[in-house]
Amino acid sequence: MSVRFDGRVAIVTGAGGGLGRSHALLLAKHGAKVIVNDLGGTVDGRGGDASAADKVVAEIKAAGGQAASSYDSVSTMEGAQKIINTAVERFGRVDILVNNAGILRDKSFMKMTMEDFEDVMAVHFMGTVYCTKAAWPLMMEQKYGRIVVTTSGSGLNGNFGQSNYASAKMAMIGLMNSLEIEGARNNIKVNAISPVADTRMTGGLMEEAVLKYTVAEHVSTGVAWMCSEACNVSGEILCAAGGYYTAVRWYRSEGAGFDPGKPATLDEFADSAERIFDFTSAVHYEGVAKKIRELLVESGRL
Ligand code: NAI
Repeated sequence: MSVRFDGRVAIVTGAGGGLGRSHALLLAKHGAKVIVNDLGGTVDGRGGDASAADKVVAEIKAAGGQAASSYDSVSTMEGAQKIINTAVERFGRVDILVNNAGILRDKSFMKMTMEDFEDVMAVHFMGTVYCTKAAWPLMMEQKYGRIVVTTSGSGLNGNFGQSNYASAKMAMIGLMNSLEIEGARNNIKVNAISPVADTRMTGGLMEEAVLKYTVAEHVSTGVAWMCSEACNVSGEILCAAGGYYTAVRWYRSEGAGFDPGKPATLDEFADSAERIFDFTSAVHYEGVAKKIRELLVESGRL
């Protein structure tokens, strides 16, 4: 099977460097017309420089691809709308949106200012919401869309000093879960990438010997597949690092069932707490509504 994007228009936010640049290059190489969006600021989200996006556009064009720059910030609805408008004005449509732009303001929660918390939420989470909101009506109308949100192991596992970043990265999983359902009938697939790559954002965080293998290009292969017509999954989280790909889902403990007709006492709950939080025979989590029904049937109430 040959995965191509001919006739498709892709937007990659934060594509002036790091992972975004790599995603943009790969999509363009396989035929997509790409909007390279980047504010061109510092890792902590200050300043701006149009040359970041322009350089990547030049690289794509030099390789025979089609691309155009966008310098607007994802962190306001107005900026996001302009990014989507740029795609429509330059290339006539929007098929693919890779929400990748991000900044860091790491500090322990004790020392973190609300400004640092809110600014990180504004770029990662609200930036994803705004861009997706602006692209959504177009995708709904054309009955086709591929959206990728960029989450992180910091959100999935937590990380010291990243309460702002981890919150933003998990909030977008909630967004994805709902949009997966809302977009399903119109062939809009919404998935998440949880990358590991050697970029300026992770500078110095990984072992030197590992760094040369965790190149962004490995991650982009998975992202591009999730942006393609071949992608037949939605609402999934793909982890990609150094050529290893794996998908993540929630699991739940086997749990403990009490009499559905009478709320458990606090002491009864306390006596079962160990079992409730024992994950040794965990199963895939798909909500508990089904399980409650099963318990009602088992106890002869349904
Ligand atoms: P990066 O710093 O090279 O890329 C982020 C890009 O976003 C920069 O080019 C920056 O100018 C741009 N940007 C920042 N604020 C913006 C805004 N308001 N509007 C438009 N563009 C903006 O870092 P990297 O590593 O390439 O990160 C890309 C994404 O991957 C981020 O969302 C990051 O949180 C995520 N990520 C990266 C990991 C890694 O191992 N590199 C691990 C987990 C997640």
